[in-house]
Amino acid sequence: MAIKFGRPLQQNIGFVPGEPDSSLTGHTPLDLPTRMRRNRRSEWARRLVRENVVTADDLIWPIFVMDGDNKRAAVASMPGVERLSVDQAVREAERAAKLAIPCIALFPYTDPSLRDPTGSEALNDNNLVCRAIRAIKKEVPDIGILCDVALDPFTSHGHDGLLRDDGVIMNDETVAVLVKQALVQAQAGCDIIAPSDMMDGRVGAIRRALDESSLTDVSIMAYAAKYASAFYGPFRDAVGSSKTLHGDKRTYQMDPGNTDEALREVALDIEEGADMIMVKPGLPYLDIVARVKETFGMPTFAYQVSGEYAMIMAAANNGWLDGERAMMESLTSFKRAGCDGILTYFAPRVAEKLRSEK
Ligand code: PBG
Repeated sequence: MAIKFGRPLQQNIGFVPGEPDSSLTGHTPLDLPTRMRRNRRSEWARRLVRENVVTADDLIWPIFVMDGDNKRAAVASMPGVERLSVDQAVREAERAAKLAIPCIALFPYTDPSLRDPTGSEALNDNNLVCRAIRAIKKEVPDIGILCDVALDPFTSHGHDGLLRDDGVIMNDETVAVLVKQALVQAQAGCDIIAPSDMMDGRVGAIRRALDESSLTDVSIMAYAAKYASAFYGPFRDAVGSSKTLHGDKRTYQMDPGNTDEALREVALDIEEGADMIMVKPGLPYLDIVARVKETFGMPTFAYQVSGEYAMIMAAANNGWLDGERAMMESLTSFKRAGCDGILTYFAPRVAEKLRSEK
């Protein structure tokens, strides 16, 4: 049945064409039973009818870790974001917990001397990520920790998987390594394993291995619909893989032109045992978020990636837009599209802003 909005349009117009429009002079109000502006006329009314809001509970904060002690290093292409040594990452995790941010995501900047063609450092149970997980779990036990599963921070060629001589990224061989990487991270205390590599079949293989190792409580958030995007540029600077990346990732990450394919990717990851689903990047792919949420009703997340963050920060730092408002508006749009949560580098700023407004 068609939904009717008030009276038929002709009556709604309120004046007869051809006759002088007295409303323009302010004497006779338009005959408008519906006035949309009534609900917008004051801040209390806008708050009352607001459909979507961002809260601290919606935030996952990605943090870059590096070797060293008491060290912080700015990431040039991500103003306001720093790589942190483990002790500093612990401090930021404490800050996140105080701000009621439920979860942080850890990304390692692996020393170039530890990178090799097979990404073997990913399997070292005392690597940077594992040390960071253990340190944070010890000091801040109540914050959730999410870790990427993919080889790109560890490979000398910058790919997420194993590279064959002819340039092919090998699927099944890679999955075998990713399973080991996931186990190493889960055993160190990671709560959410997030495969971001886009190999086929990795969610199922990781789920099986976790279960066989009695790690049944460890969750999987699948980077289910991850696109081959230009918006990852600054992240690759942060983890030090941009200069080394051979070629591009289009044989495993999705083609930006596709939508139906995203639904198939998500369906497979759910079937294989994913607890949560992620779409990535965020803002340019909100149509995908909306369709995924509508179709599957799963806990759905999006990653506001480094390039999206960099764009807002660059414009704000040039005085071209109001950075704080653009930040809040962009995050609200994720909620509107159907996200249950957002991975965002703005997380602490948002949480601080929300807290100060209470
Ligand atoms: C690694 C990974 C990437 C991001 C998250 N995990 C980069 C890539 O796939 O090249 C991007 C995050 C961001 O841009 O903020 N597999």
